[in-house]
Amino acid sequence: DAALLAELRSLAERVARAAGDLVREGRPDRVEVAATKSSPVDVVTQMDADSEALLRRLILAERPGDAILGEEGGHVAGASGLTWVIDPIDGTVNYLYGIPAYAISVAVVAGTPDPDRWVALAGCVLHVVDGRTWTAALGAGATLDGRALHVNDAKPLSQSLVGTGFGYESERRAAQALVLTHVLPKVRDIRRIGSAAIDLCMVADGSLDLVYERGLNPWDMAAGGLIVTEAGGALTGLRGRRAGPDMTVAGASSSAAELASLLAGLDADNGA
Ligand code: IPD
Repeated sequence: DAALLAELRSLAERVARAAGDLVREGRPDRVEVAATKSSPVDVVTQMDADSEALLRRLILAERPGDAILGEEGGHVAGASGLTWVIDPIDGTVNYLYGIPAYAISVAVVAGTPDPDRWVALAGCVLHVVDGRTWTAALGAGATLDGRALHVNDAKPLSQSLVGTGFGYESERRAAQALVLTHVLPKVRDIRRIGSAAIDLCMVADGSLDLVYERGLNPWDMAAGGLIVTEAGGALTGLRGRRAGPDMTVAGASSSAAELASLLAGLDADNGA
């Protein structure tokens, strides 16, 4: 019901803000300073863990029966049928380097917490550095800092600014680079922002026309995916499948379909 959805959206936003404060204040001014502790990557891992622990504690304090699926702590079951799908820092490499594009992503879904089957109910993506806050609730629209959002109108691929991202594994990257050699000549330009959650929100608010990425995890796309669809966009996989780890494409419906068919022709959802 609408009151529950509004409550879930508000809780998602409140816990994302609390984690955002922690992550913002905890980032060392100079990574080298923190690196003397152990290694730069450890710093990030520790902040990821601290942020996720805070999110889990705040969510369960208000909704003790819900399950949680998070990047760091995995899945903890609950009895309510609702699962919070959380990314404590999306854009970890940007965080490590101080590039201002990393986010807290918090969503709540009904049913199995699998992008193929879930029904996303509410979500929030908080841009940690500048505080931009995208939220959505099912059937109630998407907002950026309280302002209603709509994706850009459909346009040909040749006029579309397209965001994408790459996995961490080298064979996967080689395959993604090959796909990119076919996509880049056909589009206005490519952006690699470094946070899939922010990519999706940028489609929702019209700062990108399209995004595609292979290999996203549920926590990278749960909140951003709902924000796109509530902003009137399409969120899809290839060959009629739903968006998920094989491929996620988002944008105005006919543009997303055009990109999805190009990617299907390249077999971009198969292999490494
Ligand atoms: C990554 C970012 C990146 C995307 C990767 C993700 P992380 O998440 O969203 O933009 O290209 O696929 O794994 O590791 O920073 O949480």
